[in-house]
Amino acid sequence: MLHLRKTGLPIITQYYTPTGNHSAISLPKGPDMSFRLQPTPPARPNRCQLFGPGSRMALFEKMAASAADVINLDLEDSVAPSDKDTARANIIAATHEVDWNSKYLSVRINGLDTPYWYRDVVELLENASDRLDQIMIPKVGCAADVYAVDALVTAIEAAKGRSKPISFEVIIESAAGIAHVEEIAASSPRLQAMSLGAADFAASMGMQTTGIGGTQENYYMQHGEARHYSDPWHWAQTAIVAACRTHGVLPVDGPFGDFSDDEGFRAQARRSATLGMVGKWAIHPKQVALSNEVFTPSAEAVAEAREILAAMDEAKARGEGATVYKGRLVDIASIKQAEVIVRQSEMIAG
Ligand code: COA
Ligand code: MG
Repeated sequence: MLHLRKTGLPIITQYYTPTGNHSAISLPKGPDMSFRLQPTPPARPNRCQLFGPGSRMALFEKMAASAADVINLDLEDSVAPSDKDTARANIIAATHEVDWNSKYLSVRINGLDTPYWYRDVVELLENASDRLDQIMIPKVGCAADVYAVDALVTAIEAAKGRSKPISFEVIIESAAGIAHVEEIAASSPRLQAMSLGAADFAASMGMQTTGIGGTQENYYMQHGEARHYSDPWHWAQTAIVAACRTHGVLPVDGPFGDFSDDEGFRAQARRSATLGMVGKWAIHPKQVALSNEVFTPSAEAVAEAREILAAMDEAKARGEGATVYKGRLVDIASIKQAEVIVRQSEMIAG
């Protein structure tokens, strides 16, 4: 069986029998644990993406001075239709005039279902300084949405002789987006990150809620007298993480609307980090520290990961593939788990 990877190189997948013996006549095996290597995502911290409306220029210097890894200047839903032109001009000026320091600078354009998006792309790519790193495409529903923006960006980069290629991030925030999440993750070599947009996602799915992320009052199991709350975002998040990890894209949790609820934000962010997401949006500056706290591996977690690696080094020296650490099994898979934490920590520190 042949699969094509992003580079167009064929990948030969292996076959297995129910007994685990390799055989040429048995069932085809999927891309997990396959001959195909999992690509590494961009090695840059993406613990917090701080948003601000492009129409509120007074916020730009404050955003630049924040502790967020990524800045998202918005042209989309936080900007009223009558302000779109001004917001574009503000953002273009800010790429020239504001000192964004080491921030990864991204601009959210309008969706492909609006009359605004093409001007967003044309004006940004023709006039923004090289300080612009990324464009965020909202409401992506299929890979062709990304292809359309890529074609326009590629043409303008060539016409204007822009030497630094713009990267992309997308928001999965519709039923179509989640249904096509894997093809979207594979859509363009420019794609670096993918976020779940809880509010538009809920609306598109017809979910009975006006909450933006977090616990939903009516999503629970009843057990006797007790209610056990469950996580209605879990499925979409996991689908996004799997698609992103398959294609070397950073999976990111989107907004948490109730910015007066710090513990609710922490709980949502901790669930996302546990599932493999690397960061979360901040829609108010007070959420930046919370996000950085959750998505930076703790000193204890890093110390434990290093101890597991040391225990496995000793096991290897004894010719063993498995050993006991603090009363529990660690084996060769534990090395990979521990390395995720150590690498994340080193990348953030570096
Ligand atoms: N980035 C940086 N600083 C911000 C900020 C932001 N997004 N939002 C507010 N601030 C600043 C305020 O200017 C104020 O600064 P000051 O203490 O120097 O006066 C301080 O933080 C406290 O702001 P506060 O009064 O609590 O908020 P607000 O009423 O001015 O704005 C929001 C609240 C939610 C409207 C605003 O934070 C916002 O627009 N957030 C982003 C919305 C967005 O981009 N949505 C799209 C993605 S979902
Ligand atoms: Mg949205």
